[in-house]
Amino acid sequence: MSFLEINGGRNLYGSLSVQGSKNAVLPMMAAALLNKGITVIQNVPYILDVCHMIKILNALGCRVKYENGTLTMDASCLTSHELPWAWAGKMRSSIMILGALVGRCGEAVTYYPGGCSIGARPIDLHVEGLKKLGVTFDVEGDRIEARAARLVGACVDLPFPSVGATENVVLAAVLADGETCIRGAAREPEIVELCRMLRQMGACIDGVGSGILRIRGVKRLRDCCVSACGDRIVAATYLMAVAACGGEAMLTETPVSYMGASLDVMRRMGCRLKSEGDRVLVLSDGEPSPIPFIRTEPYPGFPTDVQSQLMATLCFSRGNSSIQETIFEGRFNTALELKKMGADIIIDNRLAVIHGAGNLHGALVEARDLRGGAALVIAGLAAEGKTHIDSCCHIFRGYAGIETDLRQLGADIRADYGQAAQQA
Ligand code: UD1
Repeated sequence: MSFLEINGGRNLYGSLSVQGSKNAVLPMMAAALLNKGITVIQNVPYILDVCHMIKILNALGCRVKYENGTLTMDASCLTSHELPWAWAGKMRSSIMILGALVGRCGEAVTYYPGGCSIGARPIDLHVEGLKKLGVTFDVEGDRIEARAARLVGACVDLPFPSVGATENVVLAAVLADGETCIRGAAREPEIVELCRMLRQMGACIDGVGSGILRIRGVKRLRDCCVSACGDRIVAATYLMAVAACGGEAMLTETPVSYMGASLDVMRRMGCRLKSEGDRVLVLSDGEPSPIPFIRTEPYPGFPTDVQSQLMATLCFSRGNSSIQETIFEGRFNTALELKKMGADIIIDNRLAVIHGAGNLHGALVEARDLRGGAALVIAGLAAEGKTHIDSCCHIFRGYAGIETDLRQLGADIRADYGQAAQQA
């Protein structure tokens, strides 16, 4: 069993550089399949999700080398169009391979994707979007077979700006015949980064960063070398750790321009922030102000991926806060673990009311999902006494060396990677 052990109650002081973005890198790795050549991505974090994606690409015949944060992928000759069940089921982003693989090979077999237990996570929007481009599906149990003799550009209207569905349709459309227009596209920074990369590879995409993407299919893509942006969710996690613990920290390689909503919340909690270029300095007295109401929204709204961390931080305020979760219904499970540490949180459907009493105490808790696990780390760092967090493989899926980063800020934290180390 992998775990983290934290002796809490310390202020955090120091500086650290923010890792590359998980959610940007994973679809970029899928995009490498579209290039019959070599694609290089720099600033790739060494996390379990990246390791799993490497295994999937390898199984398809793509040769992958990972060295010092640089991924070199050679997809000149693919040997299979079927994702291995063992890896496809382990991560949500395996579904992203579908659009890319059908775009490249005209066929793909995958399995219903796994990932965090934060809600239902259907894939109907992916499927409907790809169908518009001419993909036909055969689904048996969790096995999904997709085929398209020829992909043809079309109009795709997304009823909800799903990040994954937008990415999947973009990936399928870049090599399709004619023009694809995605209306109601998600505008998340990770989609902007994916489109930038695809453009560098020769794809024609207009409207990047807006809710309407226009993609004119091209015959082939070319080799490219790109660098992944910093991880806005990891950066927000560390900022909130400082908000809860008190102290002063400088984060470098932070994607500040992508973090408006999270930085705004930090200010509402009374933290002082100074940013210049990709650096953010945060100062906190360790007594965050309550936030009467906030809700999660698609970008540029407050991200669902930072909701759990905010909930943990608000436990250290004095007063009432409330958070409405509008994206993933299961994300309030973290409250059950925070309650073991003395938190007073009432959940009513999609609303969480946090009665902050200014402190929590250490406890034995369990990471139930990636961001919920990160929230428990924040709680453990700021709480009095020792916190032991079990099932940390969820946290290691997305945070590269979270204990090393936090020790740089003076935290007393120890990691045991257990089985997670064997999976990498
Ligand atoms: C991505 C991110 C995840 C983040 C989420 C929302 C990656 C690897 N993961 O996940 O960290 O929390 O965006 O910002 O980038 N939905 C459907 N049908 C679908 C697809 C989605 O109903 O076919 C619903 C989901 O159940 C959810 C909402 O749409 O309620 C958002 O999901 P989506 O934006 O697709 O998230 P992911 O791409 O899975």
